[in-house]
Amino acid sequence: MHLRGIRLENYRRFKWAELEFPDGIVGIIGNNGAGKSTLMEAIAWALFGTDASRTSKDQIKSIFARKADVCRVILDFEMNGDNFQVVRELKGTSLSVDASVIINKKVSARGNNAVNELIQKTLGMDLKAFMTSFYAKQRELNALSDFQPYKRKELLARMLGIETVDVALRNLRSDKRELELKLDFNRSQLKDKDELRAQKKEKTETLSLLKDKSKVTKEKFDSETSGLKEAEKIWEGLKLKYEEHFRLSQKRSITQTEKQSQKNQLKLQEEEQANLITLDSEEKKLEELLAPYEEIKKKVSLLDEQRIKAEHQKITQNQKKDAEASLTSDQRRLATLNKELEPKGDIEKNLKETKERLVSIEKELEEERNLYMRMEASSKSAKDENRKLESQLKHIEELGPDSVCDRCLRPMGSDYHNIRQHLLNEQNKLEERLQTIEKERERIKKKGQDLKKAKRELEAQKENLQKSSEKFSRLEGERQNLERNVKEKEKTLASLVEVLKNLGEVEYDPSHHERLRKESEGLEKLKQKSTEIVSQLKRLPQVEKKINELKEKILKLSREEKKIEEAIAKLRFSEEEYKNVEKSLAEKREFVHATELTLKDIKHQTEMVKKEIDQIEEEIKNTIQLEQDIKGWEEEQRYLEKLDLLFSDFRVSLIGRIRPTLSRYAKNLFLELCENRYEDFELDEDYEIYIYDQGEKFPIDRFSGGETDLANLCLRIAISLLISESSQVGFSFIILDEIFGSQDTLRKENILNALAQLKNRFRQIFLITHIDDIKDSVENLVYVTENQEGTSDLLLQ
Ligand SMILES: Nc1ncnc2c1ncn2[C@@H]1O[C@H](COP(=O)(O)OP(=O)(O)OP(=O)(O)O)[C@@H](O)[C@H]1O
Ligand SMILES: [Mg+2]
Repeated sequence: MHLRGIRLENYRRFKWAELEFPDGIVGIIGNNGAGKSTLMEAIAWALFGTDASRTSKDQIKSIFARKADVCRVILDFEMNGDNFQVVRELKGTSLSVDASVIINKKVSARGNNAVNELIQKTLGMDLKAFMTSFYAKQRELNALSDFQPYKRKELLARMLGIETVDVALRNLRSDKRELELKLDFNRSQLKDKDELRAQKKEKTETLSLLKDKSKVTKEKFDSETSGLKEAEKIWEGLKLKYEEHFRLSQKRSITQTEKQSQKNQLKLQEEEQANLITLDSEEKKLEELLAPYEEIKKKVSLLDEQRIKAEHQKITQNQKKDAEASLTSDQRRLATLNKELEPKGDIEKNLKETKERLVSIEKELEEERNLYMRMEASSKSAKDENRKLESQLKHIEELGPDSVCDRCLRPMGSDYHNIRQHLLNEQNKLEERLQTIEKERERIKKKGQDLKKAKRELEAQKENLQKSSEKFSRLEGERQNLERNVKEKEKTLASLVEVLKNLGEVEYDPSHHERLRKESEGLEKLKQKSTEIVSQLKRLPQVEKKINELKEKILKLSREEKKIEEAIAKLRFSEEEYKNVEKSLAEKREFVHATELTLKDIKHQTEMVKKEIDQIEEEIKNTIQLEQDIKGWEEEQRYLEKLDLLFSDFRVSLIGRIRPTLSRYAKNLFLELCENRYEDFELDEDYEIYIYDQGEKFPIDRFSGGETDLANLCLRIAISLLISESSQVGFSFIILDEIFGSQDTLRKENILNALAQLKNRFRQIFLITHIDDIKDSVENLVYVTENQEGTSDLLLQ
């Protein structure tokens, strides 16, 4: 099989791109995300559909496409001389999948499922095998070198298909374990058939015994039931008699109770009648005793009035006595007061005169005070004048007779003595005047002192007189009050005398009054009693009537009672007989019930035993069935045992066969690619790589990262070769996605050279890389580029 061409329409980044695949080593170059892996994925999608896509189907269609646009991949390839064209599409908004295969221009299959079936049949491999043999996915080499040993073994087993055998073996062993458990369990459930049969026999015998017992008990039950029916008939008759007897007894008892109650009432009424008759005679006696009742009552009432009058007279006499005493005392006091108040007029006159005298002295004192002030002023002015004269005289004397006058500025000469004499004379006059003033002052002072003394004496006198006047005023007030009181009391006394006069002579004997009052009280009580008796006696006719009624009723009830007695006697009911029959009936019922229960019990036991027999039969049947099943499972177990052995052997032989071939392929490639720098390459049972250096064997960890990658690439290509060998497709192309990773330039060249060596095995080798320095080393180049729209283009060079 080799690829001829591909067309991508609205497939992921590609809006429209076409490519004819050349032969030889084809470098597919482009930046990260340009769409290189997409191109190779499109090949797998065209062949195997959605399972080959890295995403769900709704993400396959280009985001640059319109809704109505179809997403489509058309792949042309050639196989065994036939030209194949596979078309795969996602249509409409629902992205419904469609596909077709055209072989040699003839439609060979239509529809998704038909196409998938045809492709798998034609290629002789499913998607997984295809991907393992033709397509080394990006990061797959990394996984091979980076995985832990057990994971790497798993990955390789998966790639080589050994994993399927492992899974089958695992399932087989799990089935085996399940079967073993089932067998163990069912064997433990197996029962002893003989023992079951013995049990059945025993139960069947019990069943026949129960049947016999049931027959006997049934006969007993029937005879007891007919006996019970007869007894019940007798009992019915007796019951009717009993009920009639009971009814009559009840009636008799009610009549007797009623009669007794009437008798009791009669007794009470008769007692009351006797009482009333006794009261009647008592009333007659009372009437005699009450003959003087009204007269005594009148006398007592009169005496009550007399007593009130007497008490009034006594109180008034006492009041009169008190009034007289009080009046006499007031009159005496009034006489004393009048005497005390006699000097009142003189005192008033004296006080008035003293006050007038005091006023005139005050006036005189004021005048003397003014005069004294004037004298003082005159004395002061005379003294001032004298001081002036003194100073003038002193000045003149100091100037002397030869001096010049200050005023007229003429020499003083003889004027000096004149002036001096004049000043001296003036001084003498002043002296005389001052003496006169002083004498007058002394006189005024003396008079003032006398006046002040007289004033003080008058003031003391005035105070005494005022005190006396006030005392007289108080006494005067008292006298006026007393005069008023005396008049009032005189009036009261007169009215009391009048009252006493009106009362006149009063005669009242308290002991007589008390005696009569007690007698009246006694009669009052008798009167009350008599009234009560009279009212009670009114009931007598009623009582007599009631007694007659009761007697009649009692007679009637006695007659009725007699009738009932006769009816009871006629019934001839025997209580003892009734009880005996009742007891025997209850016993019979008890027997029947007990027999019925026994019958039920036997029936229940019979059913139980039947069920047990059925169960034992079922168990025997089940045991036979289980024994057969166990035989079948044991056979199955032997068969699975054989299968396990076969599968284990098969797995060992598969691994035994695959591993040397794989190891050989990988070794040839590796030695070729590293130009025989190392002597040997080996794969152990766990697919761990060992390399011989200078005759010594080393695990791959000992070598460089690039050498490890190379060894893993060789192993990966060896796997591709191995898988494709087993299909009918044969070697034709291989896609290697980003395998250079850590390789240096020399190593890259070596890989490329090695790949060139593989040309006789693979017609087309697609090398996807974003490193463009390989472009000189490959025969063809496909550029995957991004255009201005953001979509990708393919360009073959
Ligand atoms: N339906 C789609 N429409 C448009 N673009 C998509 C769609 N699906 C995926 N892509 C984009 O296509 C680009 C191409 O992916 P691809 O794996 O082919 O890149 P690559 O060239 O292999 O890059 P690298 O060198 O990194 O592996 C990615 O950036 C992805 O986001
Ligand atoms: Mg990629």
